[in-house]
Amino acid sequence: IPVDPFDLVIFGGTGDLSRRKILPGLYRRFRDGQMPEGARIIGAARSDLDDEGFRDFVEEAVRSFVSKRKCDPETLAAFRKTLFFVQVDALGDDGWAELKDRSKPDRVQAFYFSVGPRLFGPIAERLHTKGIAGPQARIVVEKPFGHDIETARALNATLAEHFDESQIYRIDHYLGKETVQNLMALRFGNMLFEPLWNAQYVDHIQITVAETVGVEGRGDYYDKSGAMRDMVQNHLMQLLCLTAMEPPSKFDSDAVRDEKLKIIRALDPIAPEDLVRGQYAGDDETASYLADAETDSSDTESFVAMKLHIANWRWNGTPFYLRTGKRLKARMSEIVVRFKEPPHSIFEADTGQSANELSIRLQPNEGMDLKVTIKEPGPGGMRLIDVPLDMTFADALGEELADSPDAYERLIMDVIRGNQTLFMRGDEVEAAWAWTDPIIEDWERRRDKPTVYEPFSTGPEEALMLLHKDGRRWREIR
Ligand code: BG6
Repeated sequence: IPVDPFDLVIFGGTGDLSRRKILPGLYRRFRDGQMPEGARIIGAARSDLDDEGFRDFVEEAVRSFVSKRKCDPETLAAFRKTLFFVQVDALGDDGWAELKDRSKPDRVQAFYFSVGPRLFGPIAERLHTKGIAGPQARIVVEKPFGHDIETARALNATLAEHFDESQIYRIDHYLGKETVQNLMALRFGNMLFEPLWNAQYVDHIQITVAETVGVEGRGDYYDKSGAMRDMVQNHLMQLLCLTAMEPPSKFDSDAVRDEKLKIIRALDPIAPEDLVRGQYAGDDETASYLADAETDSSDTESFVAMKLHIANWRWNGTPFYLRTGKRLKARMSEIVVRFKEPPHSIFEADTGQSANELSIRLQPNEGMDLKVTIKEPGPGGMRLIDVPLDMTFADALGEELADSPDAYERLIMDVIRGNQTLFMRGDEVEAAWAWTDPIIEDWERRRDKPTVYEPFSTGPEEALMLLHKDGRRWREIR
C-alpha cells in the first residue's frame, strides 16, 4: 500500500535497537521502494553527531546487519540522503528548537521512543509543549511496557496526557513476525480448521519459544525481569491470544484487540504445581546464568513452563502448555495443536494409529506441518502410520517470497500507514500484567528458587513432568 512522504524521528537513534533492527529494516524498505520520495528519518539522541556523522553511523549499521547482496553503493548513497540528525536532551531543553525547525507538522510524523521508559513521559510532553507534534503525529513505544500493573498504568496515564490511544503504537515484535500473522490467515481464511478449533476436538495446545542465547550483556535488565516478565507477559501471551481468540468480525485493530483482551481476561489463576521455573547452569565452555548476570546469587528464572486454562465455552477443559527459556537445546518457536484421537477405531488395536497434530513453526524454517494418519503402503495389511503434510514456506513459496520483511520493518510501515492491528492496546497490556503479577508476587513471597538446568538442554526435568503427569509429551526442541 503506497504511503505519503513521512517523517520518522527515532529517539535513541544511535542506540543498540536502532542500529541492529530499526535502521537496517528501514534500509530494506527503502531498497524495496516502500519509502516514498521525500520521506525522512531523523535520528534524535544525545550523541554529538551531525547529519553526516549519523549517515556514517547508519551506513555502518546497514553494512553490518543487511546481507551484502542488498548493500549496493547506489542504494546506500540514496538512502543516506533520507537521513538527518538532531542532538537532543530528552530531559532538558537542548535541541528541541532545532527539532521543531526541522519538523514538518503537516505530514505523518512517527516518533519512535527507542529509549528507557523513564524518558517516555518527558519526550511525549516536549513533543507537545515545544510545538513539534502535528495532527498526524503518532508515537511508537518499546517493551518493557512497565514492570507490573502499577507501572504499566502509570505509563499509560502519562502517554494519555499527551496522545490519544489511536496515536500510541506499543510494539510487541512477535506480532510483526510473518508466521504469527499467518496464524490468523490459517485460522480465519480456511474452512478446514476453525470448526475443529475447540475443546471438543482439540486435546491440548503447546506453545514453545526456545532460545539458545543466554542473557550475556543484558544481565542488568534481565535479572530484574526474568522470563515471566521478559517473554510470557508479552510475546507468549500474544501467541496464546491469537491461537485461542474468537474470530474477530473483521481484520481491524479494535476488532482483533477486543478478542485478544477477552482471552487474557478469561485466563484462570494458575496453580503453583502447574508452574515450573528454571535457571541455566554453565559448563566448561558456557557461562552460567549467574556469571552472565554478573551476580553471586539470584532467584530470577531464565526458563518458565506452565499449564493454563482459559475459562470460556470454546476452551473449557483444554489445557494450554507454554514454555520459554534461554540457553536451551535449539532456537525454536512453535505452536502445536494436538487434536483428539478418533472416538472409535475401526482398525485393529496394534495398528499404531494416533492423533492429528498441527504444528506452526514461527522460527526458524517458517512453515507448518500437519501430522495425518495413512495406511502404510505395502501388502502387509491395514497398518497405519503418521506422516507429516509439510509446508515449509521457503519450499512452497520460493526463497525470495519466503525471505519476508523482518518484524520491525513491517511494524514501522504499519505505524506510517496508521494501522494499529498488530500493536498492543493499553488495556491489553494492563490485563496481561494483572494476570502475571500475582504469579510473580507469589514467587517473591515464597522466595521460590528456580531449578538449575543444564545448558543446551530442554530445561528442568519438572517441565517434562508437567505434561507427563497428564499423559502427554512436549514436541521435541530441535
Ligand atoms: C525480546 C526479549 O523481547 O525478545 C529477549 O527481551 C528475547 O530476551 C527476544 O531474546 C526474542 O526475540 P526473537 O525475535 O529473537 O525470538
